[in-house]
Amino acid sequence: MGEKNMLLHFILFLFIFPLIMAMEIFPGATTNNTAKPGCPTECGNVTVPFPFGIGTDCSLSHSFYLTCNTSYEPPKLFLQDGNLQVYNISDTELRILTRISYRCYNQSGVAFEHIGWSNLAGLYTFSAKNKFTVVGCDDYSLIRGTNGGDFSSGCFGLCSKARDVPHGECSGIGCCQTSIPKGLSYYNITLGALQNHSNVLSFNECGYGFLVEEGSFEFGGVNDLSTDYWGFAERIRSTMPVVLDWVIRPNGTCANEVDECKGNSSCYDVEGGGYRCKCNEGYDGNPYLHPGCQDIDECDNGDNPCYGVCINTVGSYNCTCHPGSDGDANVLNGCKEVAKDSKNASTTVVIVIIVIISGMLAIISGIAGIFFGIRRRKLIRLKEKFFEQNGGVLLKQKIKSQGTHEAMTLFSTEQLRKATDNYAQENIVGKGAYGVVYKGVLSDKRVVAIKKSKLVDATQAEQFINEVMILTQVIHRNVVKLLGCCLEEEVPILVYEFISNNTLFHHIHHRLGGMNWLSWENRLRVATEAASALGYLHSEITMPIIHRDVKSTNILLDENYTAKISDFGASRLVPVDHDQVTTLIQGTLGYLDPEYFNSSQLTEKSDVYSFGVVLAELITGKKPIGSDRTNEEKILATYFVNSVRANRLFEIVEPRLLREATFEQLQAMGNIVKRCLSLVSCDRPTMKEVAVELDALRKFTTHPWAQQQTCSETRSLVLEVEQPDLYDVPLINDTNEWEPYSGITEMALKENNPR
Ligand SMILES: *[C@@H]1O[C@H](CO)[C@@H](O)[C@H](O)[C@H]1NC(C)=O
Ligand SMILES: *[C@@H]1O[C@H](CO)[C@@H](O)[C@H](O)[C@H]1NC(C)=O
Ligand SMILES: *[C@@H]1O[C@H](CO)[C@@H](O)[C@H](O)[C@H]1NC(C)=O
Ligand SMILES: *[C@@H]1O[C@H](CO)[C@@H](O)[C@H](O)[C@H]1NC(C)=O
Ligand SMILES: *[C@@H]1O[C@H](CO)[C@@H](O)[C@H](O)[C@H]1NC(C)=O
Ligand SMILES: *[C@@H]1O[C@H](CO)[C@@H](O)[C@H](O)[C@H]1NC(C)=O
Ligand SMILES: *[C@@H]1O[C@H](CO)[C@@H](O)[C@H](O)[C@H]1NC(C)=O
Ligand SMILES: *[C@@H]1O[C@H](CO)[C@@H](O)[C@H](O)[C@H]1NC(C)=O
Ligand SMILES: *[C@@H]1O[C@H](CO)[C@@H](O)[C@H](O)[C@H]1NC(C)=O
Ligand SMILES: *[C@@H]1O[C@H](CO)[C@@H](O)[C@H](O)[C@H]1NC(C)=O
Repeated sequence: MGEKNMLLHFILFLFIFPLIMAMEIFPGATTNNTAKPGCPTECGNVTVPFPFGIGTDCSLSHSFYLTCNTSYEPPKLFLQDGNLQVYNISDTELRILTRISYRCYNQSGVAFEHIGWSNLAGLYTFSAKNKFTVVGCDDYSLIRGTNGGDFSSGCFGLCSKARDVPHGECSGIGCCQTSIPKGLSYYNITLGALQNHSNVLSFNECGYGFLVEEGSFEFGGVNDLSTDYWGFAERIRSTMPVVLDWVIRPNGTCANEVDECKGNSSCYDVEGGGYRCKCNEGYDGNPYLHPGCQDIDECDNGDNPCYGVCINTVGSYNCTCHPGSDGDANVLNGCKEVAKDSKNASTTVVIVIIVIISGMLAIISGIAGIFFGIRRRKLIRLKEKFFEQNGGVLLKQKIKSQGTHEAMTLFSTEQLRKATDNYAQENIVGKGAYGVVYKGVLSDKRVVAIKKSKLVDATQAEQFINEVMILTQVIHRNVVKLLGCCLEEEVPILVYEFISNNTLFHHIHHRLGGMNWLSWENRLRVATEAASALGYLHSEITMPIIHRDVKSTNILLDENYTAKISDFGASRLVPVDHDQVTTLIQGTLGYLDPEYFNSSQLTEKSDVYSFGVVLAELITGKKPIGSDRTNEEKILATYFVNSVRANRLFEIVEPRLLREATFEQLQAMGNIVKRCLSLVSCDRPTMKEVAVELDALRKFTTHPWAQQQTCSETRSLVLEVEQPDLYDVPLINDTNEWEPYSGITEMALKENNPR
């Protein structure tokens, strides 16, 4: 009888509860994975998921390259560099501006007209969801296109009296719609009149033909017929898009797929050519971006029909009846209580039952007490395990032996969870190969950056402890301050002061979201600060530190544009009695010291080399490795040194700096960089020397450049200065590569037409 039920209940409870608890503690780190790391995820309110991307390196290929013009409010997204605005991107389609063909008449015949055409150059195709639509009272229109073969179709819009025209219905009276086939990638639309509009001119001057998404076009009746071209076109353009289908490589198939589909997703061929990737069942996310799709927590997202106990599993979920009942928990009332004993019980039986039940209740509360005790202990043990696994013991020992721990706090799991709103997506401020950085607010209102590593293996735990140890040693205003860490989670977590103004790299190369131009003065100051911080690390602390990964993305800027060196994951402490350390080569391509690369002998001078590359970036505005540059210019370090040698520094300096800096400053800076980039490390200055020289440069502000241009050798420079402000050129300057939409632009239309 009931007892058995209870027991079952209980056993299940014992089993399931810890499971659920464990899941709550470590929710699957579901990331949106919308765009490539470092790339914008939206433009205005349009989300831009990879393979699409705004900017050169952000899209899968040129086909998915979009531009975001932020001079509009809200910003507008365009296909390629063209003028076709994109309104929405879904995982198979995109919705873009509708282009309209028109022909308008006056008493003497055709007043003006435009034959519209669109060529998607095989990159996209017009979806069969579009309808070819003709609006007019005396008009026929033909659409002709190619989808492998030739296609043509047409439609008539006719009426004789304004009051005959129905509103909202495209029935052939004043408006006509017809289907188009799949796979169209080129079409043109021509228009003609049966009687040159002479009979209907009083209420309808123009005929129109266009493709528009089925269901989105609502015919405005006489209003649409009698309004002028501009009014009508504006109504269509602003609210009624045309739908395009997109695929990865229109002529590709899954069989020759180039590893586009990432984890837990699969490839499928699209009818009519090309393929796409799709998350496997039970997963969602972006199948084109590493690490691919993530398990969906079906029990959490509320749209699964489970009326019992729901347990999420990888790729699926398990829905069972509550303990004590049986049946199908996936349908409402599908679970039935397990049959009870017959109820011909007399009062004595009832009393016996009551006694038994109260006895059981006592037992249950006893067991429950034990159970909760066990659970708590389990949790504590788990935390202890992680603490150990994360090197907590090691760290504690180190802290003890070195005695530099005043500023170190060991945070608890709960504190950090609260600070980040349970690691909410919107608190993510950075992502990388190493893990995710969240912005958090501690209970004492301090804003902090919380770095959560992605994976844990032995080497990473070591790196982690390494970073902690190094940073606790360092107190410098230009080094990111480590406030503490948390070792109780499965992955180690570091807590830093929050640096609000992005990385130097972003300021030099991206300037997203209306970032200000980093002026010469600020560049010089940031460089000086970073150099002095590195100098301090190299020579002013008991155990010198080699950063090993100096690059512009590891120099953060705070709200006052003060530089802060960060990311000490790869750094090495140098034992005092050694001046060289042999290590596994580590660093970032483009910044890596070639001598270190060849010899594996790590010295402080490797940081000097990397810093030289950062300086070169600062004054040229070029990336350390430029995929868009020719071969000998590809590596910025080499390109820079060669330019200085050939006395052509001023050709590669960011044009705007030519106006902000003095001639001497630039030349001196070029020299510093050249020395930092010496191939032989002993020819390089020390970081301290670099800092001193940069500081001297800052004070050296004699004549502005404009008064200096007397020397003949600066002719090339003068030419550049005379150009308009180059700062406003878009990020992408390979605009002449290929222009599918260069045919008829909206601007051209305006010029051709009266009004
Ligand atoms: C992640 O996705 C959720 C919902 O899908 C959305 O609310 C959130 O803004 C997204 N976050 C980012 C960084 O795109
Ligand atoms: C996007 O912004 C435009 C203009 O502000 C607005 O009309 C449109 O409704 C917005 N779309 C969404 C989905 O918010
Ligand atoms: C884009 O379209 C999708 C699906 O059609 C829709 O869910 C989403 O809200 C749209 N987004 C915008 C910004 O219009
Ligand atoms: C953005 O749009 C404005 C106004 O149409 C135009 O002048 C400007 O050139 C555009 N910018 C880019 C980067 O396309
Ligand atoms: C318009 O058509 C009518 C009837 O077909 C014809 O009489 C008239 O001459 C035409 N007008 C012009 C300007 O072509
Ligand atoms: C009709 O339009 C044409 C071409 O724009 C123009 O030359 C002509 O003067 C217009 N006729 C009338 C009556 O407006
Ligand atoms: C319209 O497209 C058809 C089919 O591709 C082509 O034969 C015709 O020349 C095009 N007409 C114009 C005016 O471009
Ligand atoms: C697909 O088309 C592109 C461009 O038209 C071409 O370069 C490539 O060779 C084609 N690939 C195949 C497999 O046909
Ligand atoms: C698929 O997803 C599961 C759970 O999210 C994950 O453990 C697994 O590594 C993924 N597989 C691949 C190939 O990424
Ligand atoms: C669901 O749970 C039941 C009982 O707990 C188990 O027998 C079954 O294998 C589970 N199914 C899946 C798909 O995990």
